[in-house]
Amino acid sequence: MIGVGDRGSTHVRLINRMPDAEITAMADPHVPAARRAEDACARAGKPKPALFTDGDHDYRRLLDRDDVDAVIISTPWRWHEPQGVAAMRAGKHAFIEVPLAITVDDIWSLVETSEATGRHCMMLENVNYGRDELLTLNLCRQHVFGELTHGEASYIHDLRFQMKDVDWGTGSWRTAYHAHTNGNLYPTHGLGPVAQYMNLDRTDDRFDTITSMSSPALGRNRYAREQLPEGHPYRQLAYTCGDMSTSIVRTQLGRTILVQYDTTTPRPYTRHNLIQGTRGCLAGFPTRIAVEGWGDTHHWIEGDALDEVRAKYEHPLWRRMGREAEAAGGHGGMDFIMLRRVVECLKAADPMDQTVYEGASWSVVRPLSEASVAAGGKPMAFPDFSRGRYRQIAPLGIVS
Ligand SMILES: NC(=O)c1ccc[n+]([C@@H]2O[C@H](COP(=O)([O-])OP(=O)(O)OC[C@H]3O[C@@H](n4cnc5c(N)ncnc54)[C@H](O)[C@@H]3O)[C@@H](O)[C@H]2O)c1
Repeated sequence: MIGVGDRGSTHVRLINRMPDAEITAMADPHVPAARRAEDACARAGKPKPALFTDGDHDYRRLLDRDDVDAVIISTPWRWHEPQGVAAMRAGKHAFIEVPLAITVDDIWSLVETSEATGRHCMMLENVNYGRDELLTLNLCRQHVFGELTHGEASYIHDLRFQMKDVDWGTGSWRTAYHAHTNGNLYPTHGLGPVAQYMNLDRTDDRFDTITSMSSPALGRNRYAREQLPEGHPYRQLAYTCGDMSTSIVRTQLGRTILVQYDTTTPRPYTRHNLIQGTRGCLAGFPTRIAVEGWGDTHHWIEGDALDEVRAKYEHPLWRRMGREAEAAGGHGGMDFIMLRRVVECLKAADPMDQTVYEGASWSVVRPLSEASVAAGGKPMAFPDFSRGRYRQIAPLGIVS
């Protein structure tokens, strides 16, 4: 484990539930966080992991160890690339929190290192393992919605309270990005599932261009003035990132995806999760399904009526581990299923459910959206991180 703060401590807790995985070492320069994670291992009855807390670069000693097969990197964004690259060069598989990296060059660096070392570099996009996202994937694979033409994805979550973190914690490092960037800073949660429904970066289609615009940046400036005390470092910043970032992605086949981001205004939480095909649509938050032939026009299925759809189309992963995953907690169970898949695929030497190219494309929306906003909404081209190899990568099947 590299980084055991808010997110990393969830990974520690969930891995500790698994009899076939062991945390042998943890690196985090924040000693209280490292100690808390160490205590969590002891409480779970697991062997004591080695701790590396001697500054920002002590993770390198963790990477020197022979008892580390894979690392989970849950650190602030700027560390994802150096730590992921160092891990793969040391022969470890790298599982990196979202987004994979935050500049186009750093994303390329992770892709190229994964190719050169033959190590996995998977972004830990947990939302692809959400119950309704898995259900949607299965409905798409069973062609219930016909040919897919359009998707909608978002990360809309009021996180202004994080601005109160000063010395340590998520807001202590995330907040400043809102003061020197303007675009979609966190695109992958909504986008990852939609991209897999559409088979992007697998076989036929891939991301082509993106055009982005931002609303005025008012929310964080107001919040800082009204909620933070005089002298608070985040009261001194001028926030530039538009409250709502809206992008439209076009794929090479001409399909479209709306991607939005807002962590700055009071709004109901949503990842949107909408997929539209020629024969029907699933719209998330709350989940509603309209399919031609499943009732009259202007009829859709929602609420308890979805039980019938779930009975037929629930994803096998959720059927197998949904109950255990919900009991484990972590975003309703998605975190546990994701980590189980990682461990199971490693043990079986199977490919991961998400390729490095997918993680790269979903992450690059961030720097491309910034570039598009800065250029007045001009379309920006997606790199083909796979350099054409996506044509040989089969669509993700319904794994069980
Ligand atoms: N997938 C999800 O649902 C989800 C949810 C929250 C956060 N995240 C991601 O997880 C990552 C961490 O976010 P967080 O909210 O846990 O932040 P956090 O600030 O709570 O935790 C980050 C931890 O990394 C440690 N750290 C900093 N520099 C380090 C270094 N050089 N080496 C080792 N450890 C270092 C910090 O001391 C801290 O304990 C981010 O990439 C974020 O985007 C993902």
